[in-house]
Amino acid sequence: MGNILLKMIGVSKSFGENTVLKDINLTIKKGEIIGLVGENGAGKSTLMKIIFGMSVINETGGYSGEMIFNNERVNFKSSFDALNAGIGMVHQEFSLIPGFKASENIVLNRESLNRSFLQDIFGERINSLNKEKMDERAKRAIGHLEVQLDINTKVSHMSVAQMQFTEIAREIEREETKLLVLDEPTAVLTETEAEILLKTMRRLSEKGIAIIFITHRLEEIMNVSDRV
Ligand SMILES: Nc1ncnc2c1ncn2[C@@H]1O[C@H](COP(=O)(O)OP(=O)(O)O)[C@@H](O)[C@H]1O
Ligand SMILES: [Mg+2]
Repeated sequence: MGNILLKMIGVSKSFGENTVLKDINLTIKKGEIIGLVGENGAGKSTLMKIIFGMSVINETGGYSGEMIFNNERVNFKSSFDALNAGIGMVHQEFSLIPGFKASENIVLNRESLNRSFLQDIFGERINSLNKEKMDERAKRAIGHLEVQLDINTKVSHMSVAQMQFTEIAREIEREETKLLVLDEPTAVLTETEAEILLKTMRRLSEKGIAIIFITHRLEEIMNVSDRV
């Protein structure tokens, strides 16, 4: 397979009677940026949820077809499996813990995407972490993005752009991240902020991280994608 990172073969997904994805074939190479476009309800997010092993997929009957990631046949049962395999996802909705600092949100590996649950377990765990090491890791992750973001900023004091970049920093903080899914990340950003994000995407791609990028802004897609 050489350079191929992700291969989806004949993937179909229905929600009850509603067939949302039908025989989807998709291949992504290492470091490639793929633009994914389609009207609302086309099934873009559903496809990303399959890739990211989100529980809603299993809970609604799973999917058919095959997925090969990093030369292995996979069938993620949870997002935790996907994270472990090296996939990160930034959702349309934010999933940061509001009362916590950027550094804390970036470094703590998520065991679930459920926020209240996170707050419970991390409240304790944060105390047992080596703060210097944590700050160092958070700084390094933000450094990859080349954006201005103080790691001590609390989420509740962040602009939407800063929240977006904190989420991306969290996804790339894990050394093994190979694929990053960005589901309409620019929807909440101003044009200038979106430009910074596009630059960031190119940098990550140069580091060998593949990206699937969903947006409604056609210009952005043309600007940054290797393939649409
Ligand atoms: N959990 C779900 N249960 C039932 N139907 C769903 C669910 N999630 C998405 N759908 C349906 O799947 C279709 C595709 O949705 P989605 O993947 O969110 O599209 P897109 O991201 O391209 O706008 C829509 O018709 C939507 O109503
Ligand atoms: Mg969507």
